Amino acid sequence: MHNLHMHEKTTTDEKTTTSSLNNTFSAMDSSNKDQWMAIGHETSKNQPRVAQSILTMLNSLKDIVDGFSVDQLTHSLQTATRAEEDKAEPQMIVAALCHDIGKAISVANHAQIAAEILRPYVDEDVYNVIRTHQEFQGRHYFEYFGGNPDAREGYRDEAWFSTGETFADKWDQNSFDPTYPTQPLSHFEPLIRQTFAKPKRSFG
Ligand SMILES: [Fe+2]
Repeated sequence: MHNLHMHEKTTTDEKTTTSSLNNTFSAMDSSNKDQWMAIGHETSKNQPRVAQSILTMLNSLKDIVDGFSVDQLTHSLQTATRAEEDKAEPQMIVAALCHDIGKAISVANHAQIAAEILRPYVDEDVYNVIRTHQEFQGRHYFEYFGGNPDAREGYRDEAWFSTGETFADKWDQNSFDPTYPTQPLSHFEPLIRQTFAKPKRSFG
């Protein structure tokens, strides 16, 4: 009796899987509007996983030190703490928190990775500040690696240049202080969930 019941349940599950596959497409060139509306609905419903992934990635920065005096999570939290203390707008505080999140994947292009993660959720100026922040920081170390310490000058005519300087000079370059009173990640969690709850832009 028990075995029969198990068998019936498996059959039902298989049917459900097959029928939900039949409701959507196996190739986009045979897709229709209803199917895309269903996918759009599911994607929106699952949007909270974005904030969850951001929190997981930020937490993983705890394991990255790479010779600095504090780990990358502490550095990120300290940068965001300073931005908040300077009354930066909420999207900039989130950007400060996430500016080095790309290091969880690749240090070489971490600024671009972080900027693209943020892009749909912040204004274009904030995106540009994060995208270029390494070139602003280069003032302090690019010369040791054969780079141009004045790389930031290439952006002097941009509307967001002074914000880039504030970000790099007042919040980022000095946030390697193990003694600075730094907010924990939990302090920023509600703001992260709110910021990543809905993209301002979806395509491009
Ligand atoms: Fe940084």
